[in-house]
Amino acid sequence: MEKREQIYEGKAKKVYLTDDPDLVIVDYKDDATAFNGLKKGTITGKGVINNKMSNLLMQKLEEAGIPTHFVEELSDRETLVKKVDIVPLEVIIRNIAAGSFSKNYGVKEGTPFDAPTIEFSYKNDDLGDPLINDYHALALKLATKEEIELIKKYAFAVNDYMKAYWKERGVILVDFKLEFGKTSDGTIVLADEISPDTCRFWDAETMEKLDKDRFRRDLGGVEDAYNEIMGRLS
Ligand code: TMP
Repeated sequence: MEKREQIYEGKAKKVYLTDDPDLVIVDYKDDATAFNGLKKGTITGKGVINNKMSNLLMQKLEEAGIPTHFVEELSDRETLVKKVDIVPLEVIIRNIAAGSFSKNYGVKEGTPFDAPTIEFSYKNDDLGDPLINDYHALALKLATKEEIELIKKYAFAVNDYMKAYWKERGVILVDFKLEFGKTSDGTIVLADEISPDTCRFWDAETMEKLDKDRFRRDLGGVEDAYNEIMGRLS
């Protein structure tokens, strides 16, 4: 499949058309941003790791019955995926308090929940991705009621699968962000990526952070953390 015109460049990926109107190629960059683009940097090798991790996890999730955009890995940084219209919602699942949950609600990082939580942010950089609820999503016409219910069902199913998967590899899945898309026939599929950029991973023994928080919080050892978490997959 040949790359045609570039149709999008985001903070971490570029997207190209192909000869097939229902398929696009994503190309993962090493660029890293945080705080809505305020902090910028490079994480050498990140694009390769995020591409490969996301593809591996999405294939597992497909087998577990969750539809995804994944079609075929083309190279270290490039993957063929279904062309979707992204539903402008960031879907965040949490198992343990961390990040903005800890900050917003005054809960110590590392406090476990009795049951996972779900929240939505309106994916809109100009507005700073504000937290919204289901009713807001409907009012903003971001998705239908049925689509929102399906997205919630898929998001919790991803959590169930991934929590167990990472636990077997000595990793605590603290929280993560998902994005969903709609294919040309209206099917809702898991899209974007699942990677150390979009998940919080803590080593189960040492509680060491093995994700983008090392970059966000200037903790050092960013590349080592990405390599370590990727190594747990093999
Ligand atoms: P938060 O605690 O900062 O709200 O982040 C929750 C999860 O979402 C965490 O695993 C990191 C991920 N995330 C993204 O993937 N993109 C973002 O822009 C933000 C703010 C968080």
